[in-house]
Amino acid sequence: MSHPDRFLLAGVMGWPVMHSRSPMLHNYWFGKYKLAGTYVPLAIRPEGLAAALRALHPLGFSGCNLTIPHKEQAMKIVDEVDALARAIGAMSCVMVRPDGSLAGTNNDCYGFVYSIRQELPGWRADSGPAVVIGAGGGSRAVCYGLAQEGAREIRLINRSLARAQAIAEAFGGPIKTLPWEARHDALEDAQMVVNTTSCGMVGQPGLDIRLDKLPKSALAADIIYIPLETPFLAAARKRGNRTVNGLGMLLHQARPAWKAWFGIEPEVTPELRAMVERTI
Ligand SMILES: NC(=O)c1ccc[n+]([C@@H]2O[C@H](COP(=O)([O-])OP(=O)(O)OC[C@H]3O[C@@H](n4cnc5c(N)ncnc54)[C@H](OP(=O)(O)O)[C@@H]3O)[C@@H](O)[C@H]2O)c1
Repeated sequence: MSHPDRFLLAGVMGWPVMHSRSPMLHNYWFGKYKLAGTYVPLAIRPEGLAAALRALHPLGFSGCNLTIPHKEQAMKIVDEVDALARAIGAMSCVMVRPDGSLAGTNNDCYGFVYSIRQELPGWRADSGPAVVIGAGGGSRAVCYGLAQEGAREIRLINRSLARAQAIAEAFGGPIKTLPWEARHDALEDAQMVVNTTSCGMVGQPGLDIRLDKLPKSALAADIIYIPLETPFLAAARKRGNRTVNGLGMLLHQARPAWKAWFGIEPEVTPELRAMVERTI
């Protein structure tokens, strides 16, 4: 696809937003694909979100990403929210259509699945039970992604059981909820375990879980990327499990956004990953 005269524009709306790695990642792709354009951090207060989203079209933006605290509120503002974002209950990406209307989707579950695929090309969601710890926004994207990929059993565990039950009711299918106390034993015969809680994030205590029942062949994944290796991932690596951190999810969720905005499917290269890692 060629872009003869247009200066391409996209950005991320958040409050705060300056911590976001997205401008670095998207601007790397503008350089790599030799396109005239830029991706900017947009510090938007919650009360200004509607006006900011409506300004995308007159300003010539192709779209934007959304981060905390806008992912839910934006669903009430845009003209169309796709089934995926509705199921997950949050929007991560807005597309401006030629007529100026706004469409919303969620690319986080794509990001999670492709980050696992890039690290482990032969990985299959249906090769055994998956254990997902946590039931917040990140968990909804992970559970949806695993279910879409054909997982037959997802053991979903959260400190507040009701939040896990709400996900099981919304998605149905392979999701089975278990109480928080069951998290250690739930690892038995699992093919993967994913931490989607904020435990282990910089400044937070690590995830309280014993890994002795986790098969050595199982994958341990975390969606946290600051730090790159949480105490949970470090413990799993030390006992011989393969591990995947949350950076790949962040990098891969940006690819379908580019496809929608600019018609190009960009690559997550080792160079890009190393560049972002150096800032963490
Ligand atoms: N890599 C990526 O692209 C990506 C995408 C999304 C999120 N994330 C990361 O994922 C993490 C979670 O984000 P989120 O948006 O899902 O957050 P969220 O909606 O606020 O959910 C937080 C989750 O952590 C659990 N939790 C918090 N403190 C806990 C504790 N002390 N013990 C046990 N469980 C605890 C909560 O349990 P309760 O329900 O019991 O409170 C809940 O399940 C964050 O670190 C975020 O940066 C990464």
